[in-house]
Amino acid sequence: MSYQRPLRLGMVGGGQGAYIGNIHRISSRLDGAWQLVAGAFDVDAERGRAFALTQGIAPDRSYGDYMEMIAGERAREDRIDAVAICTPNFTHYPIARAFIEAGFDVICEKPITATLEDAIALEKLTRESGRFVGVTYTYSGYPMVHEARVRVAAGEIGRVRTVQVEYPLEWMATAIEQQGNAQASWRTDPKKNGRGGSIGDIGTHAYHLAGFVTGLKLESLTADLATFVEGRALDDNAHVMLRYEGGARGLLWSSQVALGNSNGVRLRVFGEKGSLSWFQEQPNDLVLAPLDGRTQIIKRGADDLSDDAKVRTRTPPGHPEGYLEAFANLYAGFAETIRARQSGREPGVIGQNLPSAYDGLKGVAFVDAVVDSHEAEGQPWLTPVAV
Ligand code: NAI
Repeated sequence: MSYQRPLRLGMVGGGQGAYIGNIHRISSRLDGAWQLVAGAFDVDAERGRAFALTQGIAPDRSYGDYMEMIAGERAREDRIDAVAICTPNFTHYPIARAFIEAGFDVICEKPITATLEDAIALEKLTRESGRFVGVTYTYSGYPMVHEARVRVAAGEIGRVRTVQVEYPLEWMATAIEQQGNAQASWRTDPKKNGRGGSIGDIGTHAYHLAGFVTGLKLESLTADLATFVEGRALDDNAHVMLRYEGGARGLLWSSQVALGNSNGVRLRVFGEKGSLSWFQEQPNDLVLAPLDGRTQIIKRGADDLSDDAKVRTRTPPGHPEGYLEAFANLYAGFAETIRARQSGREPGVIGQNLPSAYDGLKGVAFVDAVVDSHEAEGQPWLTPVAV
């Protein structure tokens, strides 16, 4: 075996008190494939530099903003291999574009941009530049989600008839954005978040998960949005009916006001010969209900799972894995893909089926069609520009 140097990661956003940046930091470290060496962590330059020091970042790689970071990293021989963008939605496009144009690979948070126009431009730039852009659709990192995908593709539940996917949360059931909650504040500002509230923030996860597992292509949708918390500018609850190519149907629910649900992502896929169900709060189990009525729980870590699930598994059955490991699987996949590209070979299993810039665009196009459908009340089925 030959020496593999850790890939050098830079980060924009994810500073003191931020949410997802820390998940990226922990997950990228888990398998030793990445080392965080540079960052512009905060919208406030001084706060960002001070935070960088607490993360073991060398002072000359603690940058005040992302343009300074690009200039600094470009000038180095040991420049970063990729940047992780962990900032509010409206900043993703300018930041990603600047890094791609400077020749860097990018790991970008979802939704990939705040507007459809930006998503189209970013996907085009990605294709034309040949840079790698991965999107952190977290739920596609779980081994049992991959297991479900492999089993659907192998025909184990037969032709898919209907898909139920939901992402209910409770944390925005009151007007916390009016009480200074940093995460809720930008998420309820259309200029910073984009047009879709719950549907943009978490509906995009659900939409990606359903398409990822079933392989179905959306044909059209019709949607009903609601804003239950007074004074809120965006939807906090969405119901979307989906029609897939080939006749399958789907129903997607996203909610930020669903009391009793901490992070209740749930997917159920019903085919002609059986169904598969997965729930992110019990992510080590996949439930298979075949036509003969003998429902089984398929356990993560079991010997007879697909390579796609096995390669994303670190501990034996009964030693639970969860959110951080799923996120780490995305990072392991990004590392594998970037290394494969750097050395001109095909990526191994973990570097395949990763969420791409095109998946990011599909998510934003989905949100746009959902909001259009809702606003054109009574108008029948709409087709997103990218399906
Ligand atoms: P947050 O509000 O907690 O943190 C944002 C951070 O970005 C802060 O440190 C802020 O100072 C920094 N920032 C803002 N503008 C900046 C700029 N121009 N340059 C450098 N830093 C800047 O936000 P949160 O909740 O962590 O969300 C960030 C992104 O992650 C969003 O796009 C969100 O949709 C996504 N997200 C994804 C999740 C997933 O499951 N994949 C879960 C939660 C969030």
